[in-house]
Amino acid sequence: MGENGDRHGCRRRLLSLFPLILCLLSRPSEAVASGAEDEGPSIVGYGYTVQSSTVDPSGATVSAELRLINGTSVYGPDVEHLRLVASFEAGGRLRVRITDANLTRWEVPDDIIPRQSPSPPPGAPPQQTLAPQPSLCRSQCRLSAANSSDLVFDLHNTTPFSFSVSRRSSGDVLFNTSASDPSANLVFKDQYLQLSSSLPPGHSSLYGIGEHTKPSLQLQPNQTLTLWNADIASFNLDLNLYGSHPFYMDVRSSVNGSGGSGGVGAGTSHGVLLLNSNGMDVVYTGDRITYKVIGGVLDLYFFPGPSPAAVMEQYTELIGRPTPMPYWSFGFHQCRYGYKNVTDLEGVVAGYAKANIPLEVMWTDIDYMDAYKAFTLDPINFPEEKMKEFVNSIHKNGQKYVLILDPGISINKTYGAYIRGMQADIFIKREGVPYNGSVWPGPVYFPDFLHPSSESYWGGEIKRFHDVLPFDGLWLDMNEVANFITSPPLNSTLDNPPYQINNSGGRRPINDRTTPATSSHFGNISEYNAHNLYGLLQARATNKALVNVTGKRPFVLTRSTFVSSGKHTAHWTGDNAAKWEDLAYSIPAILNFGLFGIPMVGADICGFSGNTNEELCNRWIQLGAFYPFARDHSSKNSNRQELYLWESVAASARKVLGLRYRLLPYLYTLMYEATTKGIPIARPLFFSFPEDTTTYNISSQFLIGKGVVVTPVLKSGAQTVDAYFPSGNWFDLFNYSNSVSTASGTNVTLPAPPDHPHLHVREGNILALQGEGNTTEAARRTPFELLVVVDKNGNSSGQAFLDDGEDVGIGGEGKNWTLVEFYSEKTGSGVTVRSEVANGEFALNEKWVIDKVTVLGLSDGGGFVAVEVPGLSLPLGKTFKLEVKSRQS
Ligand code: GLC
Repeated sequence: MGENGDRHGCRRRLLSLFPLILCLLSRPSEAVASGAEDEGPSIVGYGYTVQSSTVDPSGATVSAELRLINGTSVYGPDVEHLRLVASFEAGGRLRVRITDANLTRWEVPDDIIPRQSPSPPPGAPPQQTLAPQPSLCRSQCRLSAANSSDLVFDLHNTTPFSFSVSRRSSGDVLFNTSASDPSANLVFKDQYLQLSSSLPPGHSSLYGIGEHTKPSLQLQPNQTLTLWNADIASFNLDLNLYGSHPFYMDVRSSVNGSGGSGGVGAGTSHGVLLLNSNGMDVVYTGDRITYKVIGGVLDLYFFPGPSPAAVMEQYTELIGRPTPMPYWSFGFHQCRYGYKNVTDLEGVVAGYAKANIPLEVMWTDIDYMDAYKAFTLDPINFPEEKMKEFVNSIHKNGQKYVLILDPGISINKTYGAYIRGMQADIFIKREGVPYNGSVWPGPVYFPDFLHPSSESYWGGEIKRFHDVLPFDGLWLDMNEVANFITSPPLNSTLDNPPYQINNSGGRRPINDRTTPATSSHFGNISEYNAHNLYGLLQARATNKALVNVTGKRPFVLTRSTFVSSGKHTAHWTGDNAAKWEDLAYSIPAILNFGLFGIPMVGADICGFSGNTNEELCNRWIQLGAFYPFARDHSSKNSNRQELYLWESVAASARKVLGLRYRLLPYLYTLMYEATTKGIPIARPLFFSFPEDTTTYNISSQFLIGKGVVVTPVLKSGAQTVDAYFPSGNWFDLFNYSNSVSTASGTNVTLPAPPDHPHLHVREGNILALQGEGNTTEAARRTPFELLVVVDKNGNSSGQAFLDDGEDVGIGGEGKNWTLVEFYSEKTGSGVTVRSEVANGEFALNEKWVIDKVTVLGLSDGGGFVAVEVPGLSLPLGKTFKLEVKSRQS
């Protein structure tokens, strides 16, 4: 049974303490199958009652002992005695934890997500025996931290018991487990936990719970969202994919106040995390969300918001802020599965140079390896000397090199990585011996990243390989873990759990093409429990290794993720298809990862599998140039798709990557904001316009930062594109004299010739831009330009964070950075633009100057005028004040 444990003997002993009458009253077990097949089976739970409940004197914690009312044997026996602890934590978040009162169960290890104030350990006496004496709750127990949180927790002493979370300010109920339908009652068994909350339909918009490919960012009712990391290509709609994130953001539309409450303002947002790494189905019906989890505990966190950005700050305060990314990683990346040899790589680099298209990073897929063995080079096609020359030469161009790395270590007695792995005994085991899987190199063992020696093993291998070839970053693939074989199950409920999650749409058992659930990690932790953590742990180890080896800010890209992966890595959305639908799905996919705290994300530009075509690739680079992570990648079996291969695509690439490179200081500053506050780089429109409910269901446009909207063409043959503009004046970044003005939001059909993508900047923003360049290094040497987009009062603001782009840390003590804030205010017929500077020395040493200021949004009476002030030389590291008139003489 692994560490979920056979604890039923213990429960039986516990049960004997109960009055006999309880047993006599027990009804026979019962289960009811759900009507809707795709929702999976449902179970009638009789729920639990509150045996005792207390609120501690500080009012910060409610504790309750819960007793099973009656049991069912469906999916195994119930846990008789539970403990619920609700408490307020940092940032006003509320934690509600329901655990087995008597036995320790599996939980996400604390070193992955450090938790505050652990609740009483299982078996500890109920809290009322502790001093100072907590007060006993009667019919209801309320927890409210008036000064530090808008959330209120209520424990309802009903039969069965329920709890709810609401807002003190408005009374709006955010989460409520009471249900008239017994199939929504709390169920807590060894291998099946169920918790359900009602949601106000029409009043609540949900985002998150991934990873899945979906046409819509807003969750649509009647879906089962399965979380179980799997090597399932992302061109599959709705299936569980590579990562697991049981987090959602709930954006509420407005409700009028009643009974003395002030009502709910549109856009009031909160977040909910179920911190649990076990496989689960999350069933969303529009009026309920139900978690059906196959292990662990129910550890819920509620983040009060109330803005979407505040939810992200609070969420990443718990799970960890996103790791900073090196400056160069914001350049354009070229990859392909199927590059044949070093000459092929050289040809691609030369192709970009010849076409005058920016290329920052060249990548190589598994093709470089010797018989697909990790940490080796193919001696024929990618021989060491030639590879070194190649990497040195691109480094001289200011370019970087990233290699793929798969976790499976080939079982081969003459292979160093295998020999050292066996010596360190760090492979995942099954029945006491290393588990034998199969991936690209054939038979493999998988490193156990929960093993205390795994980081030194993995770091040692990375160092050895880096000594051979000085790569700049690593790309972690197949780390769900992907396995080409499905091993037969053992006679265990881990391999055959009583409740089958909807893995791969219900078609596959959890052991399908991965490490079997009965495999074990260090400390006898079962794969059943730790499965979803593999990619996260591998990324953590790789990040550390790169810091040690390079001494620089690491760049790690991973396919498989879990809650908190953003602390270590970037992510790409896996194997999409070169299809128009997949182009569109990439928008909700990248936006979701922003919500999951992994802001550095992109989809394979031009499509991974299948053959792309000129029109699709053209439109894809017009969108992909504005993904936070911009990489062209394709499969071995599809046609080549480097951007220079078609003249129209090359022209688009020069145009859109030209703009991306000009926007680099803005993108980098957004990364700084992400790493310090957790706010995504690419954001849904509702982040900046939460009060505008039209934005809630937009999946075809997104924001970069707070004020730039991207409106890509997503359909073949389109001559126009439909855009929504929330209130304000918006200016076309490719042609400042095109603008859209709207008082309260408007739908506009924009012309969409093949060479014109749409990016608009909104009034109120100041963007710090630099010049174009074919590498970020070249672009960083150019002077700055300020684009000041004022509102009707002449106001706007923006900032630029500047550092060397590769220090391991970011900001902080060292002062090797400068932060400039820009403002504008109305003066006379124009505006004054000024700056405030923190730590100006760094920017002064870099000799960065602003040589041009362009003001948009001023009017000369007849309409907007773009006023340019060229020929300046304002040092970025010093404060300045500049008056700009609506007509410059
Ligand atoms: C997986 C990856 C893909 C890669 C391929 C070969 O399918 O998702 O990006 O090219 O493996 O390594």
